[in-house]
Amino acid sequence: MTLKDKRALVTGGASGIGRAIADAFAGEGARVTIADRAEVAGAGFEARRVDVAKEEDVIGLLSGMKQTGGIDILVNCAGILIEKPLLETSVVDFERLMDVNLKGVFLVGREALRLMVAQDRGGRVINIASELAYLGRENCSLYCASKGGVLSLTRSWAREFAPKILVNAIAPGPIDTPMLGIEMTSPETLAKESQNPLGRIGRPEEIAAAAVFLAGPGATFMTGQCVSPNGGAAMF
Ligand SMILES: NC(=O)c1ccc[n+]([C@@H]2O[C@H](COP(=O)([O-])OP(=O)(O)OC[C@H]3O[C@@H](n4cnc5c(N)ncnc54)[C@H](O)[C@@H]3O)[C@@H](O)[C@H]2O)c1
Repeated sequence: MTLKDKRALVTGGASGIGRAIADAFAGEGARVTIADRAEVAGAGFEARRVDVAKEEDVIGLLSGMKQTGGIDILVNCAGILIEKPLLETSVVDFERLMDVNLKGVFLVGREALRLMVAQDRGGRVINIASELAYLGRENCSLYCASKGGVLSLTRSWAREFAPKILVNAIAPGPIDTPMLGIEMTSPETLAKESQNPLGRIGRPEEIAAAAVFLAGPGATFMTGQCVSPNGGAAMF
């Protein structure tokens, strides 16, 4: 129970990696709020319908948490993927993707950090980036750029809010979630995604384990870092 009595907020926790993180945090004793624009199935969480790209939604979310015990841990996990050749990519695509993946992280991060500073009891922020921030990917340049931006926010916030609040990122490799669409993916795509030294894609629980570490008592000397559970696809 490494997170006993901690109050955690997980955006994008209705599905995939975010849901696995919410489950793992709850299993470690945290009180977890899931903020997602989709409905949250199952019990054991406080669920809030929030669009992370809407400032009023995010301010309402954090002011609600302020009145009900505050926040100790934020995981910025909500994200979308648009896969399109650059030459077919519109400004509407750009704004839709950046609204969620970058503006959403900025808004939730800003309001959560505002509350953490006011509370003066420390805090952890964990931003979910991607290995593609480092590797790049054809037909995915907007997504890759958004995740590069998430890593830059992470490093700057780590400096700005040290030493009391620790800010780190996780850059997963391909993980079996609805975003990857494994059920609909061809054997060829699956084989391509599995081209890493460990020879397979990852499971959401393997990303949740990294989040539990970064949120917990073992990570007190880490800030501005990026943990990379990616099967060895990118090595630093
Ligand atoms: N699956 C992968 O292979 C992989 C790899 C690297 C990084 N990631 C990142 O991990 C994170 C989680 O992805 P996942 O694979 O679990 O995907 P997912 O589609 O299963 O979950 C994403 C969740 O974010 C929510 N969401 C989307 N837009 C939102 C918005 N505007 N406001 C609130 N909630 C919103 C969705 O409703 C969904 O519940 C994303 O940031 C993604 O970029 C995923």
